[in-house]
Amino acid sequence: MKQIEYEKYMKDISTGLFDLEHAKRTAQLTYQIAIHADCSNRAAQNYMDAAFWHDCGKMFLPPELLNKTEPLTDEEFDQIQSHTGLGFDYIEHSNMPNRKLRSDVALFHHERLNGSGYLGMSGKAICRAARLVAVADTFDAMTHDRSYRKAVCVEQAFAEIKKNSGRLYDEKYVSALEKYLSNTVKGGLRING
Ligand SMILES: [Fe+2]
Ligand SMILES: [Fe+2]
Repeated sequence: MKQIEYEKYMKDISTGLFDLEHAKRTAQLTYQIAIHADCSNRAAQNYMDAAFWHDCGKMFLPPELLNKTEPLTDEEFDQIQSHTGLGFDYIEHSNMPNRKLRSDVALFHHERLNGSGYLGMSGKAICRAARLVAVADTFDAMTHDRSYRKAVCVEQAFAEIKKNSGRLYDEKYVSALEKYLSNTVKGGLRING
């Protein structure tokens, strides 16, 4: 599937958990975090590209499941979690460019530093790109409405991520997000604690 077909597909089912705007925003924020973490422009562009595909495995899940507003059963939760492996398989079996980075990010973006993510990987065993995209993905998910909950404000979302810096999220990319937000959010960030 080419990017244009992927975009069209996402637009068609664009509601709830899986949507084109989330993919685009996460990609853009990934780029900004990378630049504020002193990555080269080329590396930041590659991370941005990979971030765009991070949730592509959700293409293979039923939209009713992605858009469900009631609490998920254990089985449904497992099904949602399978989007990382589905995305990895899809990318690995394609001939798309930037394949290694895209498939790593698709597979590992729900890993957390302390091993509490989907696959239980921890620390630096999680590739750098996935550690970076995890911060952008989480921030974007928190600051926009989802089928099952409302968005929180930028300050609240950042405070939550900062609270878990070094435990769930890579401190380097949390600091880079902070730098980016302080430069761009009107009036700067007012964070308590
Ligand atoms: Fe995801
Ligand atoms: Fe996502």
